[in-house]
Amino acid sequence: MKRIVILISGRGSNMQAMLNVAADQQWPAKIVAVISNQPTAAGLDVARAAGIATELVNHRDYPDRGQFDQALAHCIDKYAPDLIVLAGFMRILTPEFVAKYAGRLINIHPSLLPSFPGLHTHRRAIETGVKVHGATVHFVTADLDHGPIIAQAVVTVRDDDTEDTLAERVLAEEHIIYPQAVHDVILGKLTLVDGRVVRSLST
Ligand code: GRF
Repeated sequence: MKRIVILISGRGSNMQAMLNVAADQQWPAKIVAVISNQPTAAGLDVARAAGIATELVNHRDYPDRGQFDQALAHCIDKYAPDLIVLAGFMRILTPEFVAKYAGRLINIHPSLLPSFPGLHTHRRAIETGVKVHGATVHFVTADLDHGPIIAQAVVTVRDDDTEDTLAERVLAEEHIIYPQAVHDVILGKLTLVDGRVVRSLST
């Protein structure tokens, strides 16, 4: 049974979607812990209610990014995960942290990368006037929001969209592609070839 640790900072709806799909599909994988850097993250309550171990590693308790990442890694390693899933985890990770978990660390970003890395993606999509927007699941590299792409979902931008209406439709897609991507990674269905993610031939 493979082991998954999920990192959150807030509401945790992607985490919830993953818990639901993992249970429904009887994954050969177990979500062994949910870790937050924010004490008030609503997702912690959701995880607890689902009987999953929760941990708080509050970044405010550490003098710098490096020491926070070390404490976070220490906490993660207690659970010996095969995969670490960032689900709305709002901290920039140090290159050392990313290197330690290379190939085992994935993220979801609410845009069609490489467009709109960083924050406020929905607002920027509307302001830019793109006609399609969406979400991207990717392996995490030291370059923020730029790792090899595992999956994407496309959402049409409507003329009357607001940041909120667009965010809502993108989030609904996130809840579909993220569990699917985690499933495929954990089952070894994907391989990295020359920095690109391709479907493994043997699976
Ligand atoms: C999602 O839009 C995700 O793409 C981004 O942060 C948001 C987290 O939402 N990284 P939730 O906490 O999973 O509900």
